[in-house]
Amino acid sequence: MAENAGRRISILGSTGSIGVNTLDVVEQLGGRDAFDVVAVTGNANVALLAEQAKACGASLAVTADEACYGALKEALSGTGIEVAAGREALIEAASRDADWVMAAIVGTAGLGPTLAAAKRGADIALANKECLVSAGELFVKAVAEGGGRLIPVDSEHSAIFQSLEDDQHHAVERIVLTASGGPFRTWTREQMAGVTAEIARAHPNWSMGLKISIGSASMFNKALEMVEAKHLFNLTPEQIEVIVHPQSVIHSMVGYTDGSVLAQLGCPDMRTAIGYALTYPDRPKLNVERLDFAKLARLDFEAPDEQRFPALRLARTALERGGVQGAVMNAAEEIAFHAFCAARIGFLQMADVVERVMDEMVGYGAALTMDDVYAADAEARRRADDIVSRTELAA
Ligand SMILES: NC(=O)c1ccc[n+]([C@@H]2O[C@H](COP(=O)([O-])OP(=O)(O)OC[C@H]3O[C@@H](n4cnc5c(N)ncnc54)[C@H](OP(=O)(O)O)[C@@H]3O)[C@@H](O)[C@H]2O)c1
Repeated sequence: MAENAGRRISILGSTGSIGVNTLDVVEQLGGRDAFDVVAVTGNANVALLAEQAKACGASLAVTADEACYGALKEALSGTGIEVAAGREALIEAASRDADWVMAAIVGTAGLGPTLAAAKRGADIALANKECLVSAGELFVKAVAEGGGRLIPVDSEHSAIFQSLEDDQHHAVERIVLTASGGPFRTWTREQMAGVTAEIARAHPNWSMGLKISIGSASMFNKALEMVEAKHLFNLTPEQIEVIVHPQSVIHSMVGYTDGSVLAQLGCPDMRTAIGYALTYPDRPKLNVERLDFAKLARLDFEAPDEQRFPALRLARTALERGGVQGAVMNAAEEIAFHAFCAARIGFLQMADVVERVMDEMVGYGAALTMDDVYAADAEARRRADDIVSRTELAA
C-alpha cells in the first residue's frame, strides 16, 4: 500500500503549468493507489480537464467558465465524475473535504477559492502568489484560523522555507530571492521598448504559464515574490534582497546573524517544490534531473538593475507603504499584463501603469477586512484600465 494512501487532495488550476506538474508528481508518488483526488479545476481547457479528471479518478471537475459547462459535461458523461461550472462552483469545490489543496489558479481569480480552502482547514500548497500579495496578513490569518498549514510552492519561497532552521527565526537576518533575470537580462530599455508578448514569454530556464513568463521578463514576478515573502516569513522590507542569478540553480537563500547563508539548489523543475509541498515534512523520491556540478562549472550573480526593471522598485514602495498597496500593485499589474498581451500598451508601459495607480491610491488605508482588499483591487483595476485607454489614445 502506498505511503500516502487515502490522502484527499484537490488541485485548483490543474490544467495549467503547475497543475500539470502536480498531477505528474501525484502519479510518481502512487497516483490513484495513494491519493483520493477530490476535485480538479480549470478554465477554458476543457479537453485537458476532462482527460485529467478521468486519469486521476477525481470525484469532481469544475470549469470556471460557465460557457464551458456543456462541453465538460459531455466529455465526462458516463464516467460518474461530477461536473460544475462558474465562480461559485469553484469556491464550493475548494471548500470540499480535502486534506491538501494545490492553489495553482493564475491571478486574483485564485484568491476566493484558495481562501475557501484555507478557511475549511486544508493544508494549502501555495503557487498562487497573488493571494498573499493582495490579501497579505488576512490570508495568513485565514490559514491559521482554519488550522491548516501554508506551504509555499514558488521555487524561491520553497527554497527559503527549506533553508529556515526550526526555532531559529529570530536569527534570520535576511532572505535573498534569486532571479534569473529573464530573457531581457542584458537588454537596454530601448531594446525592450518594442518587444511583443511572444518574445517576452520565452524564458531562458523555466517552462511556465504565460503570466509568470511575462512577469519574469519584466521582473514583476520578482516584485510579487518580494511581497509574498514578506507575508509568508513575516519579514521587514529591509530583510528582503534580490540577486540576479542567471543559471536558476540556487532557488533562494536565508542569511543568519552569524554570517551563515543556507541555500536550496536544484535543477529548474517545479516538481521538486511541488513534491516537497505534497509530502512535507518528508522528502519524496522524485524522478527529476539531478544537478551535475561538474557540468555546471560556475554560478553567476549580478545586482538587479532597478532602472531597467522598475518593478523591483515598485515592490519596495508597496512594502514600505503597506496597507492595500500590495493589492493595488497586484491588480494594476494584472490589467497592465493583459493590455500588453493584447498589444494595447508596450512592454515598458506596464510599469508606468502600475506606478501611476499605486501613486494615485497612496491614501487608501489599511486592509482590515477582505472587503477592503476587494474594494482596493476593484478601484485599482478601474484606474489601470482608464490609464491604459488613455495611453492607447495618446499613442
Ligand atoms: N508555472 C510555474 O512554474 C510557476 C512557478 C511558481 C509560481 N507559479 C504561480 O502559480 C500560479 C499558476 O501559474 P501557471 O504558470 O501554472 O499558470 P497557467 O499555466 O496559466 O495555468 C493557470 C491555471 O488557472 C486556470 N485559470 C485561468 N483563468 C482562470 C479563471 N479566471 N478562473 C479560474 N481558473 C482560471 C487555468 O485554466 P485553463 O488552462 O483551462 O485556462 C489553469 O488551470 C500563478 O499564480 C503563478 O504565479 C507558477
